[in-house]
Amino acid sequence: MSLLAVITGASRGIGAGLARAAEAGGAITASCSRSPAAVGERQLNADLADPTAWAVFADWYDALVEQQQPDRCVFVHNAATLTPIGFAGEVDPEAYRTNVLLNSAAPQVLGAAAIATARRTDTPTVIVQLTSGAGRSAYPGWSSYCAAKAAVDMWVRAVGLEQAERGDLVRALAVAPGVVATEMQAEIRSSDPSAFPNVERFRALHADGELADAAIIGARLWELAVSADWPNGTVADLRDLA
Ligand SMILES: NC(=O)c1ccc[n+]([C@@H]2O[C@H](COP(=O)([O-])OP(=O)(O)OC[C@H]3O[C@@H](n4cnc5c(N)ncnc54)[C@H](OP(=O)(O)O)[C@@H]3O)[C@@H](O)[C@H]2O)c1
Repeated sequence: MSLLAVITGASRGIGAGLARAAEAGGAITASCSRSPAAVGERQLNADLADPTAWAVFADWYDALVEQQQPDRCVFVHNAATLTPIGFAGEVDPEAYRTNVLLNSAAPQVLGAAAIATARRTDTPTVIVQLTSGAGRSAYPGWSSYCAAKAAVDMWVRAVGLEQAERGDLVRALAVAPGVVATEMQAEIRSSDPSAFPNVERFRALHADGELADAAIIGARLWELAVSADWPNGTVADLRDLA
């Protein structure tokens, strides 16, 4: 049984952990980010905050599935950013726009492209969207990130219902990974409290050794994706799962 894993944001952090786990598990692995991925030869170098890159990604993804003809696909959309940390209307507008495009719009557009390919090629496909507790709890300084993760959760719920109507060829899952030791967390800890008033909580979690390892989290996410042992449209926190 051949399995194709396509992961966005696999150059570091959780995405790199996921890509390593996919490769170790024998999947054909491909990835997309701006800098080179941690593993694998099949890479698309693209800035996913740029709307013109979304069609390029869709064509690349479609061609990969066409070429590899896998029995199953797993598409993990993991790329995201917290930049710019700060209050809406007080941060650089261009950086804010980039955040909205990457975190809110790209997950929906790329997810829809993966569904279209699955249907065109009749390939059973799991779509995993990385979400966050910030999609349910509001954090001052993260307005566009919180809004984006709430959007991701609702996209997965709605798509899960749609795909159940279409026979579950595509299954969608949103997973919050917990607090993981990555560059994103380092950026949080370096925030100015006037831009991110909750910064001390994250500094304390780090000082207390409470951050999870990205390789371990990547491997757990990969197992969860491959198992497909969850109802279509599930939104879950990895910490609540066995
Ligand atoms: N770390 C945590 O504690 C935590 C908690 C909750 C949720 N999450 C979620 O988990 C996912 C991964 O987070 P992480 O902590 O591993 O982040 P990270 O260390 O900052 O890595 C982010 C990845 O996304 C890619 N990326 C960023 N901007 C991009 C762009 N414009 N175009 C293409 N790729 C881009 C980066 O690659 P390039 O820079 O090479 O493009 C990198 O590979 C995110 O969705 C995040 O929201 C993380």
